[in-house]
Amino acid sequence: MSSATITRKIGNSDIEASAVGLGTWAMGGWMWGGTDEAQSISAVQAAIDEGVSLIDTAPAYGMGKSEELVGAAIKGRRDKVILSTKCGLAWHTTQGNHFFDQAGKPVHRYLGAASIAYELEQSLKRLGTDYVDHYITHWQDPTTPISETLEALIKLKEQGKIRSIGVSNVSLEDLNGYIDAGQIDAIQECYSMIDRGVEKTLLPTCADNTISCLSYSSLALGLLSGKVGPDRQFEGDDQRKDNPRFSPENRRKISALFEEIKPIADEHSLTIAQLVIAWTISRPGITFALCGARNPEQAIENAKAGRVHLSAGDVASIDKSVDHYLENMDS
Ligand SMILES: NC(=O)c1ccc[n+]([C@@H]2O[C@H](COP(=O)([O-])OP(=O)(O)OC[C@H]3O[C@@H](n4cnc5c(N)ncnc54)[C@H](OP(=O)(O)O)[C@@H]3O)[C@@H](O)[C@H]2O)c1
Repeated sequence: MSSATITRKIGNSDIEASAVGLGTWAMGGWMWGGTDEAQSISAVQAAIDEGVSLIDTAPAYGMGKSEELVGAAIKGRRDKVILSTKCGLAWHTTQGNHFFDQAGKPVHRYLGAASIAYELEQSLKRLGTDYVDHYITHWQDPTTPISETLEALIKLKEQGKIRSIGVSNVSLEDLNGYIDAGQIDAIQECYSMIDRGVEKTLLPTCADNTISCLSYSSLALGLLSGKVGPDRQFEGDDQRKDNPRFSPENRRKISALFEEIKPIADEHSLTIAQLVIAWTISRPGITFALCGARNPEQAIENAKAGRVHLSAGDVASIDKSVDHYLENMDS
């Protein structure tokens, strides 16, 4: 491994962040079968110590829990962090569209101007900071015009409360709506070795408009960590419990893929997770790979992949194995 952490600019902004970012959804507990707070805080700190600057969170991750833990972890280290959080999944209002319930409260997709300003203030309090580096519309709200949402975000940027603007879970139509309404810096979308949809749908438009892409669930919810064996059970509200991706049959197929790419990992002294992450940040159009971690060991392992440059030959060889897996994939 070379020693310098790979960094990249977020879209049209002058913000430079580590290509491998730490995701903190699981730290909120919700949909992940609970959380260990001390381990979560240590994970964030370990990632920063290992060169990760990009840290992604959201109010919806445990109704503020993930943001609070990130806030506690970055106390005294704010200057080392490019902090990304989100708006638009609101539980202080019933405007917009009902999306899901969490902890018995209805959560709505809503991106009205006043609600965004309110949500940001709540996030700043939980994060213990007075600005966010990258602020993202988490899910899109068909009840509010995109122009109103973007105008509100641009105003917050002018006030110095946010430094760049992102959008997440967008259709191509939404993305073009934002581009027509003004300037955004990044999209945040599901992308991994086995979730490649945006390559054809959104990334060409991003490339034409200097818009970065932050991949989320870059390890396919842990399936691509190389550590989900046949006996791993998922408990409580863990979203992986009944997910066909984690079926015994699919675990066997993934394990066959890992067997094929393991020689490349071995050649570079990488773990499977590290090879997967290094491959992700090598993909054209994928600027940043967000990888969740629940403890310092995972955070350190993933962070180290942010220093790896794979050769074109390695990438082509991995692509061949992935294509073979995808042809046989059920879900
Ligand atoms: N914008 C959106 O709508 C959206 C949606 C999803 C995610 N995101 C963001 O993207 C981030 C990353 O995605 P994600 O957390 O959903 O999924 P992910 O990164 O694909 O997987 C994270 C999970 O994989 C396991 N894992 C990670 N590294 C590991 C390692 N080195 N060894 C073994 N296991 C490891 C951990 O779970 P276990 O230990 O429990 O197995 C961890 O919680 C999120 O945290 C969030 O910040 C955004």
